[in-house]
Amino acid sequence: MIISPSILSMDFSDMNGQLAQVEDSGAQWLHFDVMDGHFVRNLTFGPDLLKGVRKRSSLVMDVHIMVEDPAYFSEVFLNAGADGITFHIEACESATQCHEILDFINQRGKRAGLSLRPQTPIEDLYPYLDKCGLILMMGVNPGFGGQAFLPETVDRIAKLRAEIDRRNLATLIEVDGGINAETGKLCKEAGADVLVAGSYVFKNDIRTAVKSLM
Ligand code: DX5
Ligand code: ZN
Repeated sequence: MIISPSILSMDFSDMNGQLAQVEDSGAQWLHFDVMDGHFVRNLTFGPDLLKGVRKRSSLVMDVHIMVEDPAYFSEVFLNAGADGITFHIEACESATQCHEILDFINQRGKRAGLSLRPQTPIEDLYPYLDKCGLILMMGVNPGFGGQAFLPETVDRIAKLRAEIDRRNLATLIEVDGGINAETGKLCKEAGADVLVAGSYVFKNDIRTAVKSLM
């Protein structure tokens, strides 16, 4: 299981110390929750933070953009050093735009990811699945860390797993929101490949928490 700790819940007064612990924990990815105050009602960080962390860390930079303008910010965060960009299907103006953003990220040789809110039907992703290196399944409503996992997410993961396997795709399923050792196990059983965890990792001992998820 790939673990992607979300720096949203990091103690920003000790970034170097916490990054070192994440590196040491066995986590392979680092998750950046970018929020613009419009797509979700919260503001987080911009590309300069990613550039800074990049200098300190060799982890895979997994960037989740919860923004109204995914076309613009995909490029901004790729230029800042993202290894993968995940944007929201709900933020796309049209199917054409969604295809164009996926093509753009793929052409840059980076992992193209598509995410969806818990209320959005899984089938909405199907026209794009062949172009996606990753699907990010939200286990909570996007916007804030520390929310409880929505149990219906498990069936959604299983349904998506079946479709990915039916098409013989290598698309990864990543689950984000409300992940801890118990909910992470349910996601794994349903077919998840990557777990994002914010509060569970950073409000506990980082190494122990990551190991329990792995
Ligand atoms: C929510 C973010 C999540 C969040 C997860 O909008 O996309 O990545 O940081 O936080 P926890 O693990 O605390 O639910
Ligand atoms: Zn996220």
